Amino acid sequence: MADIRYADRLLILKNSSSIAVAEKAAALKKQGKEVIDLSWGEPDIKTPENIVNAGIEALKKGYTRYTNSRGILELREAIANKLKNENGVSYDPNTEIFVTPGGKQAILYALLAFINKGDEVLLIDPSWLSYEDMVNLCEGVAVPVPTKPEENFKIHISEIKKRITPKTRAIIINNPCNPTGMAIDRAELEELAKIAEEHNIFVISDEIYEKILFDGRSFTSMAAINGMRERTILINGFSKSYAMTGLRIAYIAAPKNIVSNMIKLQQHSASSAASVSQYMALEALTGPQDFLPKLNKLYETRRDYFDVKIKTVPGFSWVRPQGTFYGMLNTSKFAKNSLEASNILLDRFCIATVPGSAFGASGENHIRVCLIIENNIMDKVFECLRQL
Ligand SMILES: Cc1ncc(COP(=O)(O)O)c(C=O)c1O
Repeated sequence: MADIRYADRLLILKNSSSIAVAEKAAALKKQGKEVIDLSWGEPDIKTPENIVNAGIEALKKGYTRYTNSRGILELREAIANKLKNENGVSYDPNTEIFVTPGGKQAILYALLAFINKGDEVLLIDPSWLSYEDMVNLCEGVAVPVPTKPEENFKIHISEIKKRITPKTRAIIINNPCNPTGMAIDRAELEELAKIAEEHNIFVISDEIYEKILFDGRSFTSMAAINGMRERTILINGFSKSYAMTGLRIAYIAAPKNIVSNMIKLQQHSASSAASVSQYMALEALTGPQDFLPKLNKLYETRRDYFDVKIKTVPGFSWVRPQGTFYGMLNTSKFAKNSLEASNILLDRFCIATVPGSAFGASGENHIRVCLIIENNIMDKVFECLRQL
């Protein structure tokens, strides 16, 4: 037996809870059980045909080679146009944008670029579970900023302020938020901007769910707030908006000096995003956009359906999401904590969910449900909840 000694950094990392649930769900499926999977964070619809065709065309043309580490210029230009026209922020496509193999990789690059051992990174609690592990991987210290379900998991600037120390280097915001669906409005971003400037804090702004916002809410990018372009690492991508999760394609926009340093991380790891995915992303941005409001409406209708139905199940409530395709369902009625709740649902009813505690202490007593199934299948979930 080889004497395997892992590096400390590997041992720091936890196994992703959502992957653990997915594996358990897959095992049940293998046994022939019908699993209702509410754990998976990706759209349940197909990638639009024009985008798929652009990929086929790209492959036929032989675009299968390395590209510039920053990504093909046409895509960077399309991203710059999008950011200017939709978000009101100007970035130079030559020097201030780079395309990454997924948003996850982009967030890791941002942390690797700024976080030294012991540097503190503020995370809104609950937040997407990979943030904390990525901070740990960079030997930083994740500092949770609690929020409350009874307040829609709204961010309180006073709670952020209380946790700022001389070691605070960055805050990660995700607007709207996975797992809570909470949206951050312009006024709140402005408040956040004030403290970021006052304390010289960088904002890693994960805008990956930008296009999934309900009730007529409009989206404001952190970088569009006065003075914030200089201290924001803007991250956005194609996985969620354009149903392109498996194509692993996203981007970073940041000031020139930051990008010219950060790009080294990509040069020495991924080299570039996959060329075919870049051409598909180019089509996503420059092709028809009528798909986007339709998709948003679909998620909003599902949110509304869940909202009406859950009120008819005695003892249950959820935090009505303002965006994304996630929601947090309170499980106090049938379990002492969220892990137990998630296990009961999977073991007894073959319903896969992620325990809220995986996203931080403020997520306890909740499970994250993904509204990525048709309403008639969701009805089965309500039937099961009634039995608890
Ligand atoms: C909040 C958040 N950020 C980033 C990502 C990463 O997306 P991708 O790597 O597919 O671009 C996800 C995926 O689930 C997410 O939920």
